[in-house]
Amino acid sequence: MLPEVTATRYVTPLREGGSLPGIVEADDLGTYVMKFTGAGQGRKSLVAEVISGRLARALGLRVPDLVGIRLDPVIGRAESDPEVQGLLKASGGLNLGMDYLPGALGFDPLAFETDAAEAGRVVWFDALVGNVDRSWRNPNLLVWHGALWLIDHGATMIWHHNWPSAPAAAAKPYDASDHVLATFSPDLAGAAAELAPRVTEELLTEVVADVPDEWLDGEPGFDGPDAVRRAYVEVLRDRAAGVGDRITVGERSADKPSQAPEWVRVRLDRKAGK
Ligand SMILES: Nc1ncnc2c1ncn2[C@@H]1O[C@H](COP(=O)(O)OP(=O)(O)OP(=O)(O)O)[C@@H](O)[C@H]1O
Ligand SMILES: [Mg+2]
Repeated sequence: MLPEVTATRYVTPLREGGSLPGIVEADDLGTYVMKFTGAGQGRKSLVAEVISGRLARALGLRVPDLVGIRLDPVIGRAESDPEVQGLLKASGGLNLGMDYLPGALGFDPLAFETDAAEAGRVVWFDALVGNVDRSWRNPNLLVWHGALWLIDHGATMIWHHNWPSAPAAAAKPYDASDHVLATFSPDLAGAAAELAPRVTEELLTEVVADVPDEWLDGEPGFDGPDAVRRAYVEVLRDRAAGVGDRITVGERSADKPSQAPEWVRVRLDRKAGK
């Protein structure tokens, strides 16, 4: 079960986030980055945050603590921005909170080094959950106390937007060419050997149990929340087995040139010994 707290104060919106997450304080005296059920991305992005965030942690990657946050929209009454007001009004009930890391810096691949082993683990994990949101454009990695922290898993597992296609998603390749850690020589073979055997049905069942029923209720084609949980387990279990062999990094051809800016390409070429 996801621990549950109640929001006591809406502090400020985080303008850099596409979904307009906000900083809130809660009755456990914690400060959280809150993702709203009423945001355009919808509750599936919250499900993705929980499953991918918990799975990453279970595999030894750093992800800030996750909680469910009960919101009474009345706490936003003094908020003057109509967009924020609308979001709060649409998000009564259970929302997602991620422990706020004070003073964390956005990851900058020119200012912070990571080793091939850690880069490999992160890229392999992102391939497993099909994360399209860890590119040099939008790294969704923070540096806090000198270490790398993973945030923002709302855009993972896009197959859950079309369940009939989900079984086929297990065998889909992952193009990591624009991944922000692609230039750190990710040790993908090492990561697959270490992590794939740990993604067991048992672990996945524990992870999906953390998703609150109210974000799974009423999913078309399923007979209740547990059936949806089961569907997540099956895709991730099947994907874990072979995804390591289906990751491509930096393999761009003349007719498919890299979209990365010059400084990323220079680093890629240097790593490739060109
Ligand atoms: N736990 C945290 N601690 C400190 N800062 C955070 C935390 N989570 C998010 N942030 C900051 O807030 C920004 C927006 O958060 P996040 O990326 O999760 O939101 P989003 O709306 O999903 O964004 P995106 O635009 O990537 O879709 C991050 O880029 C980061 O600067
Ligand atoms: Mg983000």
